[in-house]
Amino acid sequence: MQTLQDRFGRRFSYLRLSLTEVCNFRCQYCLPDGFRGSKRGFLTVPEIRRLVRAFAELGTFKVRLTGGEPTVRRDFTEILSAVAGTPGVERVAMTTNAYRLAKNAAAWKSAGLNAVNISLDALEGESFRRITGDRRFAQVMDGIDQALAVGFDSVKINTVLLRELNDDQLPAFFDFVRNRPISLRFIELMQTGDNQPYFQRHHVPGSRIREKLEAGGWQPVRRGPAAGPAVEYAHPDHAGHIGLIAPYAAHFCDGCNRLRVTARGALKLCLFGNGSTDLRALLQDDDQTEALKSHIMKALFEKPPTHFLHQGRVGDTPHLASTGG
Ligand code: GTP
Ligand code: 5AD
Ligand code: SF4
Repeated sequence: MQTLQDRFGRRFSYLRLSLTEVCNFRCQYCLPDGFRGSKRGFLTVPEIRRLVRAFAELGTFKVRLTGGEPTVRRDFTEILSAVAGTPGVERVAMTTNAYRLAKNAAAWKSAGLNAVNISLDALEGESFRRITGDRRFAQVMDGIDQALAVGFDSVKINTVLLRELNDDQLPAFFDFVRNRPISLRFIELMQTGDNQPYFQRHHVPGSRIREKLEAGGWQPVRRGPAAGPAVEYAHPDHAGHIGLIAPYAAHFCDGCNRLRVTARGALKLCLFGNGSTDLRALLQDDDQTEALKSHIMKALFEKPPTHFLHQGRVGDTPHLASTGG
């Protein structure tokens, strides 16, 4: 079995695949005016099948479906089955805003979905509406309950803590995992090409969250070899964990284990810009698998050691949404 490895010895067994740039929410830090681009031209099911097959033959065993909002695609269930049915793919996850989860969690689990990460920036309807531009807070909460009820292997919550907008809810977020066996991860707001005034105003440093956790008796959990970007904390009175994703922290990228492919078939070596290489022309026929694989391996040679956030530089990614975060 081949493995994908870069010049720095990092191994890539995890593909983040964006299915669409479209999102039906308008999160202030991401798509404040809603999605404006073309809603056409995203990878088709046969293209996705060929892409995932090539990655799986190169040692990828985990695929995360992202967006935009991946579940806006009408053929989402078909995509799930195609990805989950690819030999070598052991784990299929998605990152979602959960608006379709309550109704579909069971069907998606049957189609092969193993894990869900849900974006949730508020624990109360008015604050949710303000941050996401959407009124379906209750529907999203039902989605979380359903995800827990159908028994996915893993349910995680992603929360971007925002000064003056939801930082007063920090104790309520801690409380959210008191009886729920899930991990709620605070993602430090990241500066993107076009959210700079917003970033200045609402950024909460990861260090502040860490101080609150330590003061509240939360203890860091030892990191496993396949740990993702979050540092996790546990508390004796809580069934769930609190995590912290702090991309501005030193060495954040040392353990990078993922590559991403955009909804239009470009391979991106890092969330933050650093260019991309188009794979789409190599997704048109089943006979192209070997050419596709060597193209991916060659491209990987260019993967940079880290992102440019430390230098205050912003990548060429206009929205995290377009890369699926
Ligand atoms: P699991 O570890 O499988 O649960 O996935 P994840 O936490 O990486 O997935 P999710 O889609 O929930 O991503 C959560 C956040 O992690 C993203 O919004 C990003 O902020 C951050 N993140 C994920 N991958 C990267 C990356 O390659 N670089 C940076 N800087 N941040 C990342
Ligand atoms: N900073 C931090 N997190 C972000 N997300 C989207 N944009 C940003 C940003 N600028 C998060 C979403 C979602 C995850 C995939 O990315 O809240 O949970
Ligand atoms: Fe949509 Fe996620 Fe961006 Fe919010 S953060 S607008 S849910 S893609």
